[in-house]
Amino acid sequence: MPKARIIYASMTGNTEAIAEMVSDHLLILGVDVETSKMESASPMDFLDADICVVATYTYGYGDLPDEAQNFYNQLSDVDLSGKVFGVIGSGDTSYGDVFCKAVDDFIAQFQLTNAKQGTDGVKIEFGPDGNSLVAIMEFAQQLQSSL
Ligand SMILES: Cc1cc2nc3c(=O)[nH]c(=O)nc-3n(C[C@H](O)[C@H](O)[C@H](O)COP(=O)(O)O)c2cc1C
Repeated sequence: MPKARIIYASMTGNTEAIAEMVSDHLLILGVDVETSKMESASPMDFLDADICVVATYTYGYGDLPDEAQNFYNQLSDVDLSGKVFGVIGSGDTSYGDVFCKAVDDFIAQFQLTNAKQGTDGVKIEFGPDGNSLVAIMEFAQQLQSSL
């Protein structure tokens, strides 16, 4: 059974809810899933997974969450060859050009790990709703099928 590790940062719960939905869909697809909060995780935790997922909100003005900084910096030091990654996040479109910018930043950082990008980054306005459900399902589906 393939294994996914989902590591998320969430201050007010939106990204946590998104991470839970990604987990639910991967489980339906027959993937074993372990989910952790970023504060208590390390990029090394991805080493025993086939699918590596980061879920993050964006803070400040286009900034990474404070609790994501160390994790982000250490990510590029880990060799994730042979693994698939995906990044999903929550933000607020009123921030314009920096809507969910942390998603783009994490994709760039993952690209330094030798992991293969399994699907495009997904950016969700606040928490999951009817509109984002399809995007979340497709995110999980594409990660599973790109293994
Ligand atoms: C002070 C502050 C700064 C924010 N900056 C951004 C931003 O630059 N870009 C963005 O897309 N969203 C921004 N947001 C919106 C949050 O990313 C959004 O509310 C998100 O759903 C929070 O996720 P969480 O519930 O998982 O903590 C900001 C929110 C706050 C309170």
